[in-house]
Amino acid sequence: VIDIRKLYAETGCFTYDPGFTSTASCESKITYIDGDEGVLLHRGYAIEDLAEKCDFLEVAYLLMNGELPSQDEKAKFEHDITYHTMVHEQMAHFFRGFRRDAHPMAIMCGVVGAMSAFYHDSTDIEDPRQRMIASYRLIAKMPTIAAMAYKYSVGQPFMYPKNKLSYAQNFLQMTFGVPAEDYVDNPVLSEAMDKIFILHADHEQNASTSTVRLAGSSGANPFACIAAGIASLWGPSHGGANEAVLKMLAEIGDKKHIPEFVKRAKDKNDPFRLMGFGHRVYKNYDPRAKVMQATCREVLSELGIKDDPLLDIAMELEKIALEDEYFIEKKLYPNVDFYSGIILKAMGFPTSMFTVLFAVARTTGWVAQWKEMIEDPVQKIGRPRQLYTGHQARKFVPLNKR
Ligand code: ACO
Repeated sequence: VIDIRKLYAETGCFTYDPGFTSTASCESKITYIDGDEGVLLHRGYAIEDLAEKCDFLEVAYLLMNGELPSQDEKAKFEHDITYHTMVHEQMAHFFRGFRRDAHPMAIMCGVVGAMSAFYHDSTDIEDPRQRMIASYRLIAKMPTIAAMAYKYSVGQPFMYPKNKLSYAQNFLQMTFGVPAEDYVDNPVLSEAMDKIFILHADHEQNASTSTVRLAGSSGANPFACIAAGIASLWGPSHGGANEAVLKMLAEIGDKKHIPEFVKRAKDKNDPFRLMGFGHRVYKNYDPRAKVMQATCREVLSELGIKDDPLLDIAMELEKIALEDEYFIEKKLYPNVDFYSGIILKAMGFPTSMFTVLFAVARTTGWVAQWKEMIEDPVQKIGRPRQLYTGHQARKFVPLNKR
C-alpha cells in the first residue's frame, strides 16, 4: 500500500483510478474482505458464524460498537431501538404525495431524505449523543418506512410496529399484516428474514457506503446522507441486482434457453450480463451466497415449494456458468443477490421490494461507517481529483460571432 498523499505533496503526482478499483478511501475497523479466499469478517467475526449464531440487532450492535453485546447490553440496545420504531403520524403524510405505482426505492429515497427536514433540530453531528440518536432512529425506523412503502403501493392501511416482536418479525408483521402468524410464528421464515438482514448488513466501501461516507464527509445531515446511500444502492449493478436476477430468470423462462443467455453474457458486443454473477472484490464464491443458498432451500422446503421453475433455472444456470471457461477465467461466481431474490419471492415480497429490504439491512452498515468516519480525526472532506481531457484554454468567441 502506497500512501499517495506524501507523493502528491512532494511531486504533484496523483493516481488515475476510475471506479476506485485500487484506491482505499479510508481506514476502517468494521469489515474485512479477502476476495480471493471468499472471506468476510465483521469486527473479526466470520459472517457464517454471525449468520448462524446471532440475531440482526446483535450484529448491528457489533458493527456500531466494535464488540458483541453482553446480555445486558443486548437488552438495552433492543430497548433503545424499539423505542424509536414508530414514525410520527405526520411522516405518514409524506407517503401520500407519491403515486401508488411509484417504485418503493423512490419512495424510500424521498421519505428518508425528508427525515432530515423532520429531525432538523437534533442532528448536531459534533455531539456523540446526537449521532447515536440519529443512528438509532435510522436503524429503528427503516423497517417501518419500508413496510409503509409496501402497504402504500398495494393500497392497504399502514401497520404499527409491535415492539414485543424481534426486528425481523416486526418487519414481516408490518409488511404482511394479518395473518401475520404465518410469518411471525414461523421460526424458519422469521429466522430467514433475520439472516437475510445479517448477510446484507455491511460490506465495506461498496458504492452506497462510499456514497454515504462522501456525502457525510462534508458534515451533511445524517438522514440526507442515508438517502444518498439508498439512491446509490438502487442501481442494478449494486443492490438492484436481486430484482434484476428475478427478471432475468423470468426472461430465460426455461432451462433449455440457458445456453443462449450464457452465450449472450460472453458476447462483448452484447451489453447483457448474467445478473447475480461477479463481484468487484470477490474472485471466489461470495461467502454470503453460500449461506443464502442454504437458507433458500430451507425456506422453499418450509413453504412446500418443490418445483419452483425459477429456482430450477437458477440452479441449472449456476451449474452451467460455474463450468464455463469464460466465467472460470474471469472468476465470476454467484454473489449474494443471486439467491436472495428467490427467497424473497417465495416469501411473498414483490420484486420491487427486494432492494428496499437490502436498504433496511444496509442501514446499520451505513450508520456504523458514517459514525466511524465522523469520529476519525484523519478524515477530510471527500474530494476526488480528475484527469482533465477537455480543451486547452481557448479564446472566447462572442455569441454574434459563433
Ligand atoms: N456477466 C458476464 N460478464 C461479466 C459479468 C457478468 N455478470 N460480470 C463481469 N463480467 C466480465 C466483464 O464483462 C469484464 O470482462 P472484460 O475483462 O473482458 O472486459 C470482466 O468480467 C470484469 O468485469 P468488470 O465489469 O470490469 O468488473 P467490476 O468489478 O467493475 O464489476 C459487477 C462488478 C458490477 C458486480 C459486475 O460483475 C456485474 O455487473 N455483475 C452483474 C450485476 C450484479 O450481480 N451486481 C451485484 C453485485 S453484489 C452487490 O452489490 C450486493
